[in-house]
Amino acid sequence: MVYEQAINDAKEHFGKILEKQLKRIERMKADQEWTDYSSLKPLIIGICGGDGIGPYISEHAKTVLENMLKDEIASGKVEIRVIDGLTIENRVKEMKAIPDDVLAEIKKCHVILKGPTTTPKKGDPWPNIESANVAMRKELDLFANVRPVKVPELGIDWMFYRENTEGSYALGSEGVDVTDDLGIDFCVATTQGSDRIIRLAFDYAKKNGINKVSVVTKANVVKTTDGKFLNIAAEVAKDYPEVEWDDWFIDIMTAKLIDPYRRSGFKVIVLPNLYGDIITDEAAQIQGGVGTAGSANVGKKYAMFEAIHGSAPRMVEEGRAQYADPCSMIKAVAMLMNHVGYVEEARKLEMALDVCVQFERKLKMTGRADGATGSQFADYILETVNDPNLESKWKNYQ
Ligand code: IPM
Ligand code: MG
Repeated sequence: MVYEQAINDAKEHFGKILEKQLKRIERMKADQEWTDYSSLKPLIIGICGGDGIGPYISEHAKTVLENMLKDEIASGKVEIRVIDGLTIENRVKEMKAIPDDVLAEIKKCHVILKGPTTTPKKGDPWPNIESANVAMRKELDLFANVRPVKVPELGIDWMFYRENTEGSYALGSEGVDVTDDLGIDFCVATTQGSDRIIRLAFDYAKKNGINKVSVVTKANVVKTTDGKFLNIAAEVAKDYPEVEWDDWFIDIMTAKLIDPYRRSGFKVIVLPNLYGDIITDEAAQIQGGVGTAGSANVGKKYAMFEAIHGSAPRMVEEGRAQYADPCSMIKAVAMLMNHVGYVEEARKLEMALDVCVQFERKLKMTGRADGATGSQFADYILETVNDPNLESKWKNYQ
């Protein structure tokens, strides 16, 4: 048979993939403990600047973080470490999504604040290496991508729980060109991987008194992996009788997010990786653009916080990097502080972001010289955070 060799090669490749995924399942079964951040001294926060506008907006985010946790840093409870080398040039030099020495430094930290990193695609001047984001999520087993979107005047208060280590992403760089004419990619769903993300979403709903979780798949068509995700959701839901749930297909959910009659009814939304990627950009756009959203990548051992947008190399090429909007990174700082237990500081920063970005708007970011610089905006946020009247100011706008 003419294709015998091609088919055998593909089978061999598939066999190796299966072995790796089955080993990953064993690791998931073994990893049951969550890090207790309150017991760490020091709690180490690593900052990776990334590419393009990343180093600029990360610097502003760092300023905010250092200011808000200055007492903890001074007393040695918190340490902030800048980790260099997660740049596209360096990654290409090493031909690794994350160079080994950088990964080793990252693993010495407890939580990471990460600027956007360039994801090479075919046709770019860079070789087509794996995305640093995707690699970090897999390496640190950051299985939950938590993305809040809020538009109070439209009654929108959504919390997305995007599965972050499986689905179409898990083997996104390991598909096969079986022949010149046949390309095959793989999509992965495991019982353990689905259970842990769905459980986290239901836990969040229960803890916050939110009576609604929506599970989104395309299980009518993608029957095995999405089917598994939906079946596991039905099982997990039994453990949360106080939380109502429903299920939606991704296509109609995409439409309903812009349906004014329906959308405020959505609260907590849990979904596989690729659907979560797509729909959270849509949701962020409804909130005012991807530049306004932050994202938490949470695992049991590590967590990483980042902007949801890209590295905007064009802004750097055109000499406009200093005008890049640091808000999504600052929002990531708020999520980071909340995650590690600085809940009150996080709440204050969230309020300051609301005041500066949505209500008071003393400064405007346009991405150009007619708007404020990122540094001016970070100062404005800090001034607002430190305003003794912040709480009442914020309430007045509600
Ligand atoms: C995101 C981004 C990443 C993703 C890219 C940069 C690989 O779009 O965090 O949503 O697809 O997950
Ligand atoms: Mg995305």
